[in-house]
Amino acid sequence: MSRWSGWALGAVIAAAAVLAALGWVSLRQWERSAQLVVREQARDMAAMAAEKIEMVLRDVPDDVIARLRRAAERPEELESVLAEPAVREVLERTLGGVEATSIAALLDPADRPVYAREPLGAAERLASARLRAGLPDWKIALYQPEGVSPYGAVRRQVMLFSCALGVLLVVIVAGSVITYRLMRRESEITRLKADFVANVSHDLKTPLSVIRMYGETLEMGRVSDAAQRDAYYRVITRESERLSRLIDNVLDFSRIEGGRRTYERALSAVEPVVRESLEPFAWQLAQGGFAVDVDVAPNLPDVRMDAAAVGQALSNLIDNAIKYSGDGKRLEVTAAVTDGALHLAVTDDGIGIPAGEHTRIFEKFYRVGHSETQGRRGSGVGLALVRHVAQAHGGRVTVESRSGHGSRFTLVLPVE
Ligand SMILES: Nc1ncnc2c1ncn2[C@@H]1O[C@H](COP(=O)(O)OP(=O)(O)O)[C@@H](O)[C@H]1O
Ligand SMILES: [Mg+2]
Repeated sequence: MSRWSGWALGAVIAAAAVLAALGWVSLRQWERSAQLVVREQARDMAAMAAEKIEMVLRDVPDDVIARLRRAAERPEELESVLAEPAVREVLERTLGGVEATSIAALLDPADRPVYAREPLGAAERLASARLRAGLPDWKIALYQPEGVSPYGAVRRQVMLFSCALGVLLVVIVAGSVITYRLMRRESEITRLKADFVANVSHDLKTPLSVIRMYGETLEMGRVSDAAQRDAYYRVITRESERLSRLIDNVLDFSRIEGGRRTYERALSAVEPVVRESLEPFAWQLAQGGFAVDVDVAPNLPDVRMDAAAVGQALSNLIDNAIKYSGDGKRLEVTAAVTDGALHLAVTDDGIGIPAGEHTRIFEKFYRVGHSETQGRRGSGVGLALVRHVAQAHGGRVTVESRSGHGSRFTLVLPVE
């Protein structure tokens, strides 16, 4: 599914890239052909102007024309010839008939502008046409006044279209990327949920089968020894307690998800909460050969809290410390007030948590990579629950841990 959405994203981006390339090329072509049209029009206009000038020159006295021609061959005389009123008048008449937004100029055979109606400055030459009669080899040229571009309108349009195309592409690409990420997230949650169901079912099955086995054994009356029988009853009680804890966790989690979890806070002593949270694990700790260290500071003030909820959070931390203990069989639980807050800390020497996972482990359903393959089952909602309890009390939960070097989770609750 995520592979396909990856492909789809790739396809959309590739299509957008092709669209961008095509758009770019056709805009360039459009711009170029518009320029071509402008140049062609200028060339036509120059040719027409040339014809008009030839007509004007037919009526000009021969000696004026001869003088002009000679002046073109000797540039040093050009100034004075051009200054002659008769010559001036002819020139004015020739160019007077040329109508254009551009500047018309007369070029001598060496392509030097001899006369223009306006100063040429840095104007750009658009087109020119050769005169045949009158002043052969002279040219009439049309210049584009500086700062005025015939392509301006075209360029503006091209710009506009480029911007529109750009915005369109950005929207397409951003939209696809966002959709892709949403889909990825969605499918990740779906996968986590499926794992969750499998993990919870498995977690429930283990204590149930133990209870059933011991129950059946007792029922058959095979156990004659009273002490043995009591041990069996204890196992059944212990396992049903564990079952209750698991179910409470899941139910509370679903209440949190539905926004229905409420906390009843009342002034409560801290020590019993710690003791009662540890108690159900006593047998398990003894069996596993754990070194258990409990340190509740004396004279702790009573704290306004939902004792059951805080106890449940603590149980979750203890459960994790045992479950992820690896070879470091140590558990330390401490309670102390520092900086006006109650710190309940659970420390282990277990497998630890890589630094990159320290925030994610508090997300619902999230479990660090290989805990499953290492045979440790879990629903992945324990720490989400702990965090919710902490925040509901105006506190927080922190983690200090390094991969392979144990972990310390601290539940920090404000004391009034
Ligand atoms: N004390 C710990 N030591 C190492 N890893 C831990 C510890 N506590 C939690 N984790 C990691 O954080 C994950 C989330 O914990 P939790 O929400 O309690 O889910 P679960 O215990 O059901 O897997 C665990 O799967 C585990 O990978
Ligand atoms: Mg857990």
